[in-house]
Amino acid sequence: MAEELVSQSIGLPSGELRLLQPRESAELPDAGGVEWAPIAPYWSVLWRSGVALAHELDGVALRGLRVVELGCGLAVPSLAAARAGADALATDSCADALALVARNARANEVRIETAPVDWDEPDELVGRAPFDLVLAADVLYEGASVAPLLSLLPRLAPEAWLADPGRPAAGAFLEQARRRWAIETRVRGVVGVHRLRLR
Ligand SMILES: C[S@@+](CC[C@H](N)C(=O)[O-])C[C@H]1O[C@@H](n2cnc3c(N)ncnc32)[C@H](O)[C@@H]1O
Repeated sequence: MAEELVSQSIGLPSGELRLLQPRESAELPDAGGVEWAPIAPYWSVLWRSGVALAHELDGVALRGLRVVELGCGLAVPSLAAARAGADALATDSCADALALVARNARANEVRIETAPVDWDEPDELVGRAPFDLVLAADVLYEGASVAPLLSLLPRLAPEAWLADPGRPAAGAFLEQARRRWAIETRVRGVVGVHRLRLR
């Protein structure tokens, strides 16, 4: 990766997480309306949903649990989960994202495994199930993601925590997910953190 990286700090109650991020994306904060679409690669943006999910995980007893993150981007939730003791696997379809996740894990002195996973071709990941918990932040920004994620989540774990800033596709996803999952939502600023448990 030839891009210039800058160092960010994310303050969590249990301590800060240090995050290297491409400079061009660090200059694009996710602070506006939900329809905002940055010109930078999506994986490289520090989305507020990822930060909200990391806050939600902070202080939760995860030691020894197998946790997988989908569409991880910068993988802030995986960093928080690994620091809380989880056996964390961060996945994304983008290889550049995963290279930076590995680097950020080392910078925070946590262990995170990474794997390239596309929700449309998940068989290899499903072969590694069951996990205890699925994490995903801001992965429902396109309607085309609803069906693959509805199909994939129950094949991975009995519980999933999804953070979303109110995207229309997330509404459609949650409406259909209620048929199989009990859903409890906590609100953090503009982000809803939806906890899904298989019925
Ligand atoms: C809006 S970004 C969110 C990144 C990160 N979860 C966060 O909150 O900062 C969406 C992420 O989903 C990934 N993604 C999009 N479509 C995907 C797919 N079909 N399979 C796997 N990852 C995908 C993108 O590469 C990107 O990293």
